[in-house]
Amino acid sequence: MPLPPTIAWSNDGTAVRIIDQRQLPASEVILELTTVADVCDAIANLAVRGAPAIGIAGAMGLVVAARSIDASSREGFLAALRDAAMLLRRTRPTAVNLPWALDRMLASAAATQGEPADISERLREEADRIAEEDRTMCRRIGECGASLIRGAARVLTHCNAGALATGGIGTALAPLYVAAERGQHVEVFVDETRPLLQGSRLTAWELSRAGIPVTVLTDGAAASLMRAGRIDLCIVGADRIAANGDVANKVGTYALAVAARHHGIPFYVAAPASTFDAATATGSDMVIEHRSGEEVTHTFGVVTAPEGVSIHNPAFDITPSALITAIISDTGIHSPPFAF
Ligand code: MRU
Repeated sequence: MPLPPTIAWSNDGTAVRIIDQRQLPASEVILELTTVADVCDAIANLAVRGAPAIGIAGAMGLVVAARSIDASSREGFLAALRDAAMLLRRTRPTAVNLPWALDRMLASAAATQGEPADISERLREEADRIAEEDRTMCRRIGECGASLIRGAARVLTHCNAGALATGGIGTALAPLYVAAERGQHVEVFVDETRPLLQGSRLTAWELSRAGIPVTVLTDGAAASLMRAGRIDLCIVGADRIAANGDVANKVGTYALAVAARHHGIPFYVAAPASTFDAATATGSDMVIEHRSGEEVTHTFGVVTAPEGVSIHNPAFDITPSALITAIISDTGIHSPPFAF
């Protein structure tokens, strides 16, 4: 069954339409975001999530903001646009795709001559270009990465780096979709991904819709599955890749990479050009988002920790480049030593 688009314009082009990922897989609810505050809220609360998807959401959010700015001068308009970009930028700090898309939008606005209406029109074109390029990059990642999947393969992934996280067929899941299209048998093992369960709720949902066999496991079960010889390779996504190849991705990725190295299993990271951050030297220079302790103490509204205990809830961790077998991108397969 085809998936609804992760993010698109409403029919009349005025609202950003997303599938509310907080409600999957129980309900398929479509939200229409009509203000920049709506878009900020959707990103911060993970109604739309995944590094490339929040980049696209940021770009489209800036179009919505531009259309509502009431400024008499071009300078006033551009200043208000920068303020809106700042609000969007602050929603989530780790994925570089968001500031990357916003900077690109602001540069496009600054380079456009004419009235605010002309700039808004140009911004809409730029946001559409960002979305379209992401779709193309996902497909290329899929085609490059599929060459690493030989014969029947049992693949372990973490979190969701699929269609729901991008404007296309995903990053980590793209090679699996392409291999399946080519008639190869792929079987995917998906970490449930505590505490918000992007693996079990989202990855398992989209893979099953595509007819790809999927098994969900608790995060703690991954290492013993490797030890039992039931995993051929791991592929995960990324939120930011430093110049030295260190990777920020969903918390738990580092533990998987350590376990994969211990068991001699290839560990691949898949990401588009928009996730590479040459200006950040290493993983230690990245900002890791810490989210509310309530995500751990009240998992989906159920009390899951005693009142008053302190909570450590980083949304991401850093996998050192030394643990990564190769990085699959739209530009090809990059092997160590990495220098981006
Ligand atoms: O907190 P999330 O759900 O936005 O985290 C998403 C991930 O960690 C993904 O693996 C990453 O963004 C890559 S998505 C192609």
